[in-house]
Amino acid sequence: MEFPAASSRRGLVPWLGFLMAVFLLTLWIPPTTARFEIVMTSALEGQDVILRTQNRPPGVTGFIWYRGFVMNYTNLIAYVSWSSGKYIKGPEYTGRETVKFDGTLTIRNVTVWDLGIYIVVAILHHSKTEIGFGRLNVYRPASVPTLLASNTTVTENEDVVVMTCYTDEISIKWLFNATSLRLKRRMKLSQDDKTLTIDPVRREDAGNYQCKVSNPVSSSESAPVELYVNDRVSMPTLLANNTTVTENEDAVVITCYTDESSTNWLFNAMSVQLRESMKLSQDHRTLTIDPIRREDAGNYQCKDSNPISSTESAPVELDVKDEANVSPLHLG
Ligand SMILES: *[C@@H]1O[C@H](CO)[C@@H](O)[C@H](O)[C@H]1NC(C)=O
Ligand SMILES: *[C@@H]1O[C@H](CO)[C@@H](O)[C@H](O)[C@H]1NC(C)=O
Ligand SMILES: *[C@@H]1O[C@H](CO)[C@@H](O)[C@H](O)[C@H]1NC(C)=O
Ligand SMILES: *[C@@H]1O[C@H](CO)[C@@H](O)[C@H](O)[C@H]1NC(C)=O
Ligand SMILES: *[C@@H]1O[C@H](CO)[C@@H](O)[C@H](O)[C@H]1NC(C)=O
Ligand SMILES: *[C@@H]1O[C@H](CO)[C@@H](O)[C@H](O)[C@H]1NC(C)=O
Repeated sequence: MEFPAASSRRGLVPWLGFLMAVFLLTLWIPPTTARFEIVMTSALEGQDVILRTQNRPPGVTGFIWYRGFVMNYTNLIAYVSWSSGKYIKGPEYTGRETVKFDGTLTIRNVTVWDLGIYIVVAILHHSKTEIGFGRLNVYRPASVPTLLASNTTVTENEDVVVMTCYTDEISIKWLFNATSLRLKRRMKLSQDDKTLTIDPVRREDAGNYQCKVSNPVSSSESAPVELYVNDRVSMPTLLANNTTVTENEDAVVITCYTDESSTNWLFNAMSVQLRESMKLSQDHRTLTIDPIRREDAGNYQCKDSNPISSTESAPVELDVKDEANVSPLHLG
């Protein structure tokens, strides 16, 4: 296909003529044949990129590269012809570009200013030309997103957790315990993927959450946010093997029945002060008083807690009798 302006031989070199023409892409592209074009390329800022062409026509004698979508002298990077041995640099040559004889354009240390449309002109014999275009995408490294949760210590089946990923990137993925989060029915992502709502939260949701953002050439993960999900503490049950006991004679065993790991003991609504005659089992669930003393009479409770709630058992009242009162043998 002949480029219309190419035949007008004004200017120093023939191609200066068609430099003035505005490039109307669709004008030159036969829709059916495999067209000569620049392979779309994505790069990270600072990388060296090679813009390649495909479907190059046969019999090429030189190439002209432009940065921008207008083929004028202002946008010229370089012209190379191996029929004439010429290598001409244009205003868009910045010292980082190299046009090779295979038609590729190498740009070292690309910046976001380099992104956009490029045009390559293949110069064929008899002043014929073929024009290809393509796009260079240049991305900055995805910056680290920030993940924030409305609350990280919550109660199962009661609370709603909203997590928000703060980022400028468009592509956002969510990670749970370092693998891709599988959305449950209780979970909802906002349309822009930036907000995850868990309503209501369940025990199985406990763990580490991250958001991972990416662009076509880099990705970055937020610091993890750990979600703690607690049951509402159920009321423990307290039982004594005998609640009416005799001073100095009897012993009593009081047991707290609970699922929680953290149990505290109360005596008359205050924290129990362990005396020599009192022993707590290692799991804190059993209190043994041996022997019973007068001052042990009163109300006992156990109290369960997790990081967000606590519940006390109903009290068990210990009635301590004098030795004399209950031992008829001593009365005689
Ligand atoms: C070439 O095109 C660019 C973009 O349209 C324009 O800014 C520039 O002035 C043009 N230069 C010439 C010499 O026409
Ligand atoms: C790459 O370009 C940046 C500016 O865009 C410059 O600061 C840096 O020094 C360059 N690096 C090299 C290796 O040329
Ligand atoms: C987080 O949830 C817990 C349990 O529902 C609640 O007690 C606490 O006040 C909440 N914290 C914030 C900051 O909303
Ligand atoms: C996620 O990790 C937490 C520890 O951070 C662990 O307790 C929880 O069982 C894990 N959950 C799943 C489903 O792997
Ligand atoms: C507890 O022991 C006393 C004797 O010390 C006895 O009189 C009382 O019946 C016992 N109570 C129970 C519930 O076993
Ligand atoms: C309660 O337990 C203590 C300590 O094991 C024991 O001495 C006492 O006989 C028990 N009382 C009853 C009524 O079983």
